[in-house]
Amino acid sequence: MRDITIKKEKKKFVCQECGYESMAWLGRCPDCQSWSTLTEEVIVQRRHGRKTTSATPQPISHLSIDSEKRFSTGMGELDRIVGCGVVPGSTILIGGDPGVGKSTLLLQISYNIALKDGPVLYVSGEESIKQTGLRARRLGLSAGKLYFLSEVNLEAIEEQLCQMRPRMVVIDSIQTVSHPDLSAAPGSISQVRECAYSLIQLAKRNEIALFLVGHVTKEGTIAGPKVLEHMVDTVLYFEGEPRADLRILRVVKNRFGPTNEIGIFEMGERGLTEVENPSALFIAERLPKVSGSMVIPCMEGMRPLLVEVQALVSQRSFSMPRRLINGIDYNRAGLLLSILEKRAGVHLGDKDIFINLAGGLKLSEPALDLGVAMAVVSSYRDIALPVRMVAIGEVGLGGELRRVAQVAVRIKEASRLGFNQCILSKGSLKGVKKGVDIKLIEVEEVKEALNIALLEEIQ
Ligand code: TYD
Ligand code: MG
Repeated sequence: MRDITIKKEKKKFVCQECGYESMAWLGRCPDCQSWSTLTEEVIVQRRHGRKTTSATPQPISHLSIDSEKRFSTGMGELDRIVGCGVVPGSTILIGGDPGVGKSTLLLQISYNIALKDGPVLYVSGEESIKQTGLRARRLGLSAGKLYFLSEVNLEAIEEQLCQMRPRMVVIDSIQTVSHPDLSAAPGSISQVRECAYSLIQLAKRNEIALFLVGHVTKEGTIAGPKVLEHMVDTVLYFEGEPRADLRILRVVKNRFGPTNEIGIFEMGERGLTEVENPSALFIAERLPKVSGSMVIPCMEGMRPLLVEVQALVSQRSFSMPRRLINGIDYNRAGLLLSILEKRAGVHLGDKDIFINLAGGLKLSEPALDLGVAMAVVSSYRDIALPVRMVAIGEVGLGGELRRVAQVAVRIKEASRLGFNQCILSKGSLKGVKKGVDIKLIEVEEVKEALNIALLEEIQ
C-alpha cells in the first residue's frame, strides 16, 4: 500500500541542474549560475498516511546484522566492489554514458540472480520488450525467473512489485519513470526525486534489491539533483570508451562496503566478462626499450593495480608549447614538470609534452608522481628505463620523495608480475616483510632516482 498521497497545489520553478527552487521564474539560477534551467513544476505535498504500527527504538545488542543475507550477483568483480554481494532492500544507482553497457551488465546479473535466488523484475522504460529480448538472446540468456516489464508509470510498476515480490528489480532508467499525479515532465528533478523516493521505500519494506540506472549529464554527473545520490545506498559509475572494449565500474559511494574500488570488465560479442588479472592487462601491450614508459603500482581501493604511464617530450611545433595530459590530474602534472625544471635541471619549458595512462584509466594518487617524472625525463633524454623496474613515490615541491601508503601490497603485485627492481622513497620499507624477489632501491630525491634509472649524471 502506498503511504503517501499527492495533492496538487501551487506552482514553483525548479532548476534542473541543481534543484534550486524559486517561487518566480528566473533566467539564471542564483545557486549554480546556469542559464535557462528553471522550469515550472507543481508543488507536491507529501502527507503521510496514519501509521498503524510505529517503529520502536531497539537496543544495539538486538540489532540484526544480516551480512550473511547478502546475495551474489554471479559476477565476482561486482560483488567485491559493492562489499561481498548485494544487501536485500538496498538501492544501487548506476550511472554512465549512453552505450557504455549499463543495460547489458544489469541484464546479465539479473539473469544470474534469477537462476539461483528467485524472481527478478527488469523494468525498461527505454527499450521495448522486443529490444530487451533481442539483447537477452544475444547474451544467450533464456531460462530462469527473469521477467520483463516495459512500463514508465510509477504506480503500475509498484503494483507489479507488490504482487510479484521479486528478489531484485532493475529500473532502466529512473529518468523515464513518472508519477501520474505530478505534472512535471519525466526526467525532471521533481519526477526523479519522487519516483526514486517511493521506489526506495518500497524496496526497503519488501527487502528487494533495487538497481536504478541513471543518465549522466554532459558534465558527467548523474542527471537529477545530488539528492538522488544521497537517497541511495551505493553509487556506481560505469566508465569506458564505447569504442574500446575495456569498462571500469567505479564505486563513488557505498553504505555497505568499501569506496574507491574499481571493477574491470571487458565488453565482448556476448556481453561483459570480468577481467581476472587487470595488472597484466594494463601492461600487456608495453613495448620494451622505448623511452618514456614506466610502470607504477597504484592502489585502487584495497587492490593493487600496475599501470603504464607514457610520456612524450618533443620540440614544440607552435609558439606555445602544448601540454596534453590523459589519466592524471592536469595541474598535478604541471607541478611535476615545474619541479623537474627547478630541482633536476630538466628544461621542459619549450617542449611539447604528452602524458598518458595506458588503457584509458583515470587515477589520482600522489604515488604516481615519481613514475610520471621518470617517464617524462626518459622521453626527454630518449633513454629507455629498465624494462623490469617500477617506481612508487610522491614528489614534494623541493624535489624530495615522500612516503606513500600500502607499499608492501604494491611491491608484492609488482613482483608477482615479474618486475625485479622497485625505486621508492626512503623510509617506505618500514614494516615491509622481506622475502619478495625484487630489488628495492630507496632514494631521497627525484634527481637521485633519475640518476639511478637513466644511468646518466644530471647536473
Ligand atoms: P547497452 O547495455 O545498451 O548500453 P547502455 O545501457 O549503457 O546505454 O550497451 C550497448 C553497447 O554494447 C552497444 O554499443 C553494443 C555493445 N554490446 C556488445 O558489444 N556486446 C554485447 O553482447 C551487447 C549486448 C552489447
Ligand atoms: Mg540502456
